[in-house]
Amino acid sequence: MSKTVFYKIDSLEGDMPKIRAAADIIRNGGLVGIPTETVYGLAANALDEEAVKRIFEVKGRPANNPLIVHIANMISLINLTSFVPQAAYSLAEKYWPGPLTIVLPKSEVVSGTVSGNLETVAIRMPSHPVAREIIKQAGVPIAAPSANISGRPSPTTAKHVLMDMDGKIDAIVDGGECSIGVESTVVSLCGPTPRLLRPGGITLYQLEKVLKRVEVDRAVMSKLKRASMAASPGMLHKHYAPKTKVVILKGTSERFAAHVNELEENAGALCFDEDIPFLEKPYISYGSEQNPETLAYKIFDALREVDDLGVDVVYAHCPPTTGIGLAVYNRILRAADFNIFKA
Ligand code: TXA
Ligand code: MG
Repeated sequence: MSKTVFYKIDSLEGDMPKIRAAADIIRNGGLVGIPTETVYGLAANALDEEAVKRIFEVKGRPANNPLIVHIANMISLINLTSFVPQAAYSLAEKYWPGPLTIVLPKSEVVSGTVSGNLETVAIRMPSHPVAREIIKQAGVPIAAPSANISGRPSPTTAKHVLMDMDGKIDAIVDGGECSIGVESTVVSLCGPTPRLLRPGGITLYQLEKVLKRVEVDRAVMSKLKRASMAASPGMLHKHYAPKTKVVILKGTSERFAAHVNELEENAGALCFDEDIPFLEKPYISYGSEQNPETLAYKIFDALREVDDLGVDVVYAHCPPTTGIGLAVYNRILRAADFNIFKA
């Protein structure tokens, strides 16, 4: 692969030729970075075995980590699955299109390459107008993991995608910054009780409003020792990590800052706006503690920026695990490889 074409979208109507060009590339077996409301995806025709294999190669992604298939209508849901329980329709009715991925038993249409050899498939109907239009124009379901090199922070701007994928994929569609900033919520409806596999843009509370009871998979908050224990293989791998070491540091703004200030090591902070007045070390703020949506919006960009701080270790201040805070905490926990310290 040599040159990655860059399509900047200013308006859906005005830039329809670029969207069609991107959709053509996907339908014909190419790879395209596309915007969604959560993070940028690395899109390929989910029905094209060779194209799907190239996603794994380009990302350096383990073959046992399945891909989410993105759709634009409910007929596709039926084609890709062998059984759709009522709960899936209820969730779709309330939260699709949007940042929710539903795991269901797969149909024969879905290859083992897409499903990581599981008997299930993860499906999402994104709400981003550019993503929706690309799927419609491509006329095929689209397999798309986050468009980062495996293990790196997920991309929330076209520039992030360029950083990781320039020269490796056919095109990037720039649809601006992702409005949510963390990936979709992954919920499995394959067992006796709905199970949250990955917290994301739809909160646990929002799921419970529809499903009544939801079990939270152990991997959401703790480190699994054995691969065989993972319901969502993606939760196994080290993730979202900058090159700089990250440690979670718990405590109030004053305690958090005082602890970082007193460290002998060459340390910095990944902090809230509220911590800034107390800090004497280099820092990157990722939003206000009072407004967890801002933290979700900025976290992945901030995790890329910490490498510019010029420090050996960065101490991260995390939000409480309520609402969207659970998704933010889950991402930082992995970036920190589960290292937690109390100030
Ligand atoms: O917001 C998102 O979901 C973004 C955008 C591009 O749509 N995509 C995304 O894909 O985050 P990816 O591949 O980075 O994460 C997919 C997660 C992984 O943790 C994977 O293990 C899990 O979903 N997953 C996929 N298929 C699964 C399945 N059949 N069973 C259980 N987990 C599955
Ligand atoms: Mg990912």
